[in-house]
Amino acid sequence: MSENKHIVISKFGDTSVLEIQSKPIPEPAANEVLIRVAFSGVNPIDVKTRAGLGWAAAQNKDNLPWTLGYDIAGEVIQCGANSERFPIGQQVAGFIGFPLEGGGYSQYITVNEAQLSAIPESVTLEAAAAIPLAGQTAIQAINQANVEEGERVLILAGAGGVGHIAVQVAIAKKAEVYTTCGEDNLDFIAGLGAHAINYHFSPVSERLSDVDVLIDLVGGDAALDALKCLKDEARVVTVPTLTAETICERATKLGFRATGMLVSPSTELLDALLYMIGIGMLKVEIESIFPMHQAAEAHAQIETGHTRGKIVLDMK
Ligand SMILES: NC(=O)c1ccc[n+]([C@@H]2O[C@H](COP(=O)([O-])OP(=O)(O)OC[C@H]3O[C@@H](n4cnc5c(N)ncnc54)[C@H](OP(=O)(O)O)[C@@H]3O)[C@@H](O)[C@H]2O)c1
Repeated sequence: MSENKHIVISKFGDTSVLEIQSKPIPEPAANEVLIRVAFSGVNPIDVKTRAGLGWAAAQNKDNLPWTLGYDIAGEVIQCGANSERFPIGQQVAGFIGFPLEGGGYSQYITVNEAQLSAIPESVTLEAAAAIPLAGQTAIQAINQANVEEGERVLILAGAGGVGHIAVQVAIAKKAEVYTTCGEDNLDFIAGLGAHAINYHFSPVSERLSDVDVLIDLVGGDAALDALKCLKDEARVVTVPTLTAETICERATKLGFRATGMLVSPSTELLDALLYMIGIGMLKVEIESIFPMHQAAEAHAQIETGHTRGKIVLDMK
């Protein structure tokens, strides 16, 4: 073991505030394991927090420098005195430190063993790092909306990190799935088995009606327009927190059952996601892998708003 580099922010701002700092390698407490992180997933919440936006930034403003990141995949290299779930050498993934602690953009991290899932041999470390936050958000949104067989489901932004998993989960529930995307993603969405609607061509409300469930991953005007596609008593789950109140208020006035959501880490769900990936039931799209010294480029890619699937950082 040598250095333990972290990607931290000492102040909020543009991508230039991301810096690499070295810290001592931590010792695992009794119920923890020490993980050598191979890949860390990058999520829009990391980018928003870095910029000083949203709840996690407000909570952490007096806690800087702060190590970003919630998604990790790596190898157990040391076990705490009472930790017995994983042998040394086991590959594990986790959705950790959410929302206040973070810490995922680290080369070495100690984590309570209860927050980790074993990675099946057939799943790559890259895919395991990409899936925790986005995959759990996708499943929890579909569950919160009670999507049922045969229902017509509209997912806004089906090509994104959460969206491409939500599309596959809704299809697995035998729903009829429609999703919005740009021209470059039409074939990608068709390959996942959903009907793709190019939102640049015309608003989705001019192309679709009688929708039972709206899963909104875009928010703002796109979500308000999509409400026009819904049938009476449709259900709406709006995932971006910044506009959730506005969307829920409008949807409720129109007679729909609308809720926002905040993803809640669940080891059982991560186990299920990794299992599904392992048997080929779920595909994880990774647009790019950036080395850790290019974290700024990784954040800039997310900020385009047009990432297909996920971005991960190579922490080795
Ligand atoms: N509340 C929670 O607990 C929670 C959890 C996770 C995520 N979130 C939020 O949910 C949102 C989605 O997260 P994510 O990780 O999936 O983001 P993401 O991966 O960055 O989403 C990128 C995708 O959005 C699509 N897109 C952009 N503008 C669009 C539009 N107007 N209509 C349709 N698609 C559009 C892009 O497709 P094209 O290139 O084809 O346009 C791209 O594939 C973010 O706001 C995130 O912060 C909230």
